[in-house]
Amino acid sequence: MIPRSLKLCDATILDKPSSRNLMGVSRTHLRVIGFLLCLSSGIALAEERLPTHFWRQPLAPQGEAPRTWSTEERSLAPESCGGCHSDKLEEWRTSFHAKAFSPGLVGQLLTYDAGDSAACMECHAPLAEQRQAFEAARRRAETEPGAGHGLADAGNSCGGCHLRGHRRFGPPQRETGAVGQSDASAPHGGVMRVPEFEKSEFCAACHQFPQSQAINGKPLENTLVEWKQSPAARSGTTCQSCHMPERKHLWRGIHDPDMVRSGLTPEFVAEHATARFRLTSTRIGHAFPTYVTPKVMMKGLALDEAGEPVPRSEVSHVIQRQVESVDGDWIERSDTRLLPGQSAMLEIAWPKSGRVKFWLEIYPDDFYHQHVYSNLLRELAADSAAAKLIAEADRTAQGSHFTLFETTVQRP
Ligand code: HEC
Ligand code: HEC
Ligand code: HEC
Ligand code: HEC
Ligand code: HEC
Repeated sequence: MIPRSLKLCDATILDKPSSRNLMGVSRTHLRVIGFLLCLSSGIALAEERLPTHFWRQPLAPQGEAPRTWSTEERSLAPESCGGCHSDKLEEWRTSFHAKAFSPGLVGQLLTYDAGDSAACMECHAPLAEQRQAFEAARRRAETEPGAGHGLADAGNSCGGCHLRGHRRFGPPQRETGAVGQSDASAPHGGVMRVPEFEKSEFCAACHQFPQSQAINGKPLENTLVEWKQSPAARSGTTCQSCHMPERKHLWRGIHDPDMVRSGLTPEFVAEHATARFRLTSTRIGHAFPTYVTPKVMMKGLALDEAGEPVPRSEVSHVIQRQVESVDGDWIERSDTRLLPGQSAMLEIAWPKSGRVKFWLEIYPDDFYHQHVYSNLLRELAADSAAAKLIAEADRTAQGSHFTLFETTVQRP
């Protein structure tokens, strides 16, 4: 039932069986293992490389930990890692990776069988032990409602990126750049340090959907391909450079006003006949925004002499990739996203007052609110556990918008 791997130039992409179309966005799931397999094809696997199976999803169970290890060293819970790596735990906790086993996801999983749930969990709670924990919690739920989902609730946690067979993998040592296996007498048997942790391809397992799922030539999430074509890739600026500066585990993105501001340059120009708002993507290593779920709107309006909005004077420009499912087939309605270096412009004629206001609105979860959750809420029984979670996710999605760059421009 699983379509076998397709070979692409730099990627071996395994297609995943298409799960039900409830997610509404990425109806099928995939993973790209490619880069690592390709790197190693024909080359003997050097000791300081990531094993080729590292990102082969679904991940295999970790198995038995060495008997001599303490309970903390054996544990897969992020809180246990945090006993020794407290800075990483504190940072990760604030990130969306920690929240990946979210109400919007679980509300959907409750309507899926174990196989379809497992497919979603490959990116949202990737450890085999998390899949087991979720299925155990599902069986328990009738007797103990609200008891949580054990390790699954940790979402995209430390182990999913750092552990295989209980062995720790990490980037080259910070101070020395050393690679290879460290001292085996250190806690958890030391660590295998490999350069792949510093490469953009490390993120592709979950942030690059396969070309075979393309809509109008582009998969719904095409971030690695966008990055490869960007000036950032040419200058060696990786996903980690922007999303994990100083190796911080924060992964700020479209939900964070400061992060979004850091990637854009707004310009406000008072021309003879009009006022202009130009927005340029200057420090983003992929399309702005990269996913199909956010919506961005450049807005402007005329102000009257008293500084109040002139009725019906509002103008706007939408920055978004709009996709839609028509009779089960995905189509692209439009794609006005900004590629690195590209600009968009909004213009408004001067009103009598000579004053115009501009601003930028960001709706990080627009598609979920407008399409996914509203459809689910129509389909699900209102008092079901799934409907309650989706309603909660919808409230969060509705509330996540924010405004940037609000500016009043005066006619010269
Ligand atoms: C008992 C304390 C302890 C626990 C618990 C622990 N670690 Fe470590 N960890 C260490 C020490 C000490 C080192 C340095 C090892 C070395 O230099 O050989 C280390 C190194 C690492 C490194 C490499 C960092 C570097 O110095 O290059 C990673 C990645 C890592 N641990 C991940 C984890 C994860 C993930 C967990 C939880 C599943 C975890 N550790 C649990 C003590 C711990
Ligand atoms: C095991 C899968 C997986 C891997 C590997 C992974 N991510 Fe993610 N990432 C996710 C998921 C799932 C989410 C969405 C979490 C949520 O909100 O449910 C996410 C969210 C994010 C976000 C936040 C997006 C927002 O909406 O604000 C950023 C930024 C991000 N990831 C960057 C990275 C980078 C950089 C890497 C590589 C170092 C990486 N991710 C590796 C699965 C992964
Ligand atoms: C190939 C990896 C991958 C798979 C498989 C996957 N997702 Fe996601 N999902 C992501 C990433 C990455 C994001 C965040 C995207 C971004 O911000 O750019 C995300 C975001 C989401 C979100 C919005 C954030 C949140 O957690 O509320 C929901 C809901 C979601 N996914 C549900 C699902 C469901 C349901 C499935 C299975 C049908 C699924 N996902 C399978 C990678 C994946
Ligand atoms: C989405 C994948 C991902 C998750 C989840 C994740 N890490 Fe990491 N971690 C990385 C990457 C990638 C690097 C290397 C970043 C770089 O080199 O810029 C790293 C680096 C590290 C380092 C080395 C830091 C240094 O200064 O040398 C430690 C220690 C570590 N992680 C521990 C953890 C712990 C503990 C957790 C959970 C609380 C965790 N990681 C969760 C991907 C992840
Ligand atoms: C030059 C800096 C830079 C690089 C390189 C970069 N990003 Fe981003 N990324 C940003 C900024 C700034 C944002 C916030 C604006 C936005 O959403 O595009 C962002 C947003 C995101 C988001 C939020 C969702 C969305 O729709 O925009 C995800 C997920 C993400 N990046 C993943 C990645 C991955 C994976 C890579 C590597 C393949 C990467 N980024 C490379 C700067 C960068």
